[in-house]
Amino acid sequence: MRECGAWGRVHRAEEGSQVSEPSNDVVNVVFIDRSGQRIPVKGKVGDNVLYLAHKHEIDLEGACEASLACSTCHVYVSGEFLDKLPDPDEREDDMLDMAPLLQENSRLGCQIILTKDLEGAEFTLPKITRNFYVDGHVPKPH
Ligand code: FES
Repeated sequence: MRECGAWGRVHRAEEGSQVSEPSNDVVNVVFIDRSGQRIPVKGKVGDNVLYLAHKHEIDLEGACEASLACSTCHVYVSGEFLDKLPDPDEREDDMLDMAPLLQENSRLGCQIILTKDLEGAEFTLPKITRNFYVDGHVPKPH
């Protein structure tokens, strides 16, 4: 009789959850504004990235207030964090298609909800957005 080797499989997802976490529901992320300035912020699990940016006076517009009717909340998601987000739904995809400077890692900020998996993620604001002033704006320091 041959032994089946399946029992020896490693449950990687469970192992991953052992990684030490800074604290309960805090998620540290970084915004990179249109001037290239890095702005680290502390969010919480469940925070919407658009509103998190507003809370920290980062000029991510969000003209339609998260109703998927604009693309002014367009951000680039850093590296491996893109894969940690749920796939965009059709409406988000449609809106992204209209966003200038679209990249592989483009997402709409108002559709990104923070999870612990996003600890360390960076959200870069593109140089321009639709319905938005073009470049040259210097955000207020805070
Ligand atoms: S704020 Fe309009 S789609 Fe995100």
